Amino acid sequence: MKILNPLLAAASALFATASAGVIGHCPVQDKFCMSIGVPESSAASGSGNIYFQVQSVADQYSWVAVGTGTIMSGSNIFVFYTDGAGNVTVSTRRGTGHTLPQPQSDTRVQLLAGSGVANGIMTANVLCQNCESWSGGQMDLQGKSSAWIAAWREGSPLNTQSADARITQHQDTDTFRIDLTQATVTQDANPFVTGAAAGTGNNGNTNSGNNSGTGAGNNGGIGVGNTGGTSSTSGSGPDMLLIHGVIMTAAFALLYPLGSILIVLVRKWYFHVACQVVAFIAMWAGFGTGYTTARNTGTLFKDGHTIFGTVVVSAMVLQPILGSLHHHYFKKNGTRSPVSYAHIWYGRVLMLLGIVNGGVGLRAAGSPQTFTIVYAVIAAMSGVAYVACALVAGMRKGGGSGAERSKEDGSYSPNSATADFGPNRYGYQTGQGADTSRNQQYQFQSRGRGSDEQYGWTR
Ligand code: HEM
Ligand code: HEM
Ligand code: HEM
Repeated sequence: MKILNPLLAAASALFATASAGVIGHCPVQDKFCMSIGVPESSAASGSGNIYFQVQSVADQYSWVAVGTGTIMSGSNIFVFYTDGAGNVTVSTRRGTGHTLPQPQSDTRVQLLAGSGVANGIMTANVLCQNCESWSGGQMDLQGKSSAWIAAWREGSPLNTQSADARITQHQDTDTFRIDLTQATVTQDANPFVTGAAAGTGNNGNTNSGNNSGTGAGNNGGIGVGNTGGTSSTSGSGPDMLLIHGVIMTAAFALLYPLGSILIVLVRKWYFHVACQVVAFIAMWAGFGTGYTTARNTGTLFKDGHTIFGTVVVSAMVLQPILGSLHHHYFKKNGTRSPVSYAHIWYGRVLMLLGIVNGGVGLRAAGSPQTFTIVYAVIAAMSGVAYVACALVAGMRKGGGSGAERSKEDGSYSPNSATADFGPNRYGYQTGQGADTSRNQQYQFQSRGRGSDEQYGWTR
């Protein structure tokens, strides 16, 4: 594990050059530190520029963040990550609760000279022009107990210039207080680099999301490579997490249930198989994207979602095998076997567990509420369709005589759903090798509701 000796050295060098007023705190000792300087003029007026620095071991964190406030909700949050090109991206966000803090451009920030990745350390020297107040609260620039929060996520660096990149939930958090009366610096200038002055080029409502400068000196090091608020510019790859979420939602909340409905409603086994095979392939594509995301963010087999998801996905491998075994047994014998029930119930349970796990994934990813709503609507619609289809099947069954029905129910299962979807519903009539009494048992089905052909079964 990389210990921050270089960071310490660099930090002490920086502190040596900084104004004596700069004070700091390390949310993770030796690995993730922040420090702050408040110009006397700002302290006196209660508003204006403040400067803070965030440093972390570059290749160890997916992202690090600090914020002003006591808890996530209502905090003014700054998330930092490397941009993949030696620079730092700062993303200004508003904490709205225990979910992904939403990007916002009200906070006016600039990355100053000295920012970038050097010697394995990510450094962000930040000028904030209006940090004294934000929509969720305010900060007394002379406060003796100014409230701050911090959070971090270990894993591969995000490496994106996108200021609204999706971040996954922190491993850990910290809340701390700073006596800002101890943090005053005489000059309104970048206190973290010798001789640097404050930024002058960005006093509008512009949020410099990315900075290209690592230079030092008067103004010269201030580079604003990406202005225009939190909108994405270049450098952001495809949103693997989003692709994962969409594919898995399609597989578990849409296609698997649809395939299961098809076997009950349309009763052509090959439609069922076609749909389930598409879902099965999609599921593995979803696994691939989920695996890559998890590896990149350091969550692989470390959180419930990835562990449980892997169990569900792997367990699904048995399902086509069980389906085929059922199919061949049924063709031969005309009845369900234990393997049929295994296929039916194992499939239902895995679908349900997968859908639940998707909800866990959405929560772990801190996904926007709209995602959760869309997911819940799709899952609920599939659930309603499944139940409705069971009812329709039940009503169809209601057409048979009482005697037949009691036979059917008695033969198959006390469970009404299973009885409703029994093999006789698909009109399987087989000859070879089938037990005669059993065959008789199911004969009413084909008499009442059509031939084997109707259900796609060939003998
Ligand atoms: C995907 C984004 C995020 C999600 C889903 C999330 C979710 C949560 C949840 C569920 C908790 C309460 C339980 C726990 O500690 O695990 C929490 C606490 C906390 N989070 Fe986050 N968080 C996110 C990002 C952030 C960021 C960027 C910060 C920045 C500083 C932050 C700071 C904190 C702090 C300080 C706490 C403890 C105080 C509190 O309960 O609010 N979080 N977060
Ligand atoms: C039952 C199977 C699964 C379903 C239905 C599912 C679904 C989802 C959904 C809907 C999200 C939210 C995506 C977003 O907000 O854009 C998500 C997040 C995520 N999924 Fe999955 N997923 C499954 C299995 C897996 C597996 C097997 C892995 C990795 C091995 C994985 C890795 C992830 C990761 C890393 C996230 C981000 C949140 C986190 O760090 O846990 N998922 N998943
Ligand atoms: C991943 C793949 C598969 C999944 C997830 C799956 C899932 C299911 C589920 C949940 C049911 C029960 C539907 C219900 O009544 O609620 C079912 C029934 C059925 N499946 Fe599959 N299946 C898959 C593959 C197959 C294959 C490969 C075959 C045949 C070659 C097959 C043949 C059948 C048949 C014939 C039924 C009706 C069983 C009966 O009601 O007696 N399935 N499947």
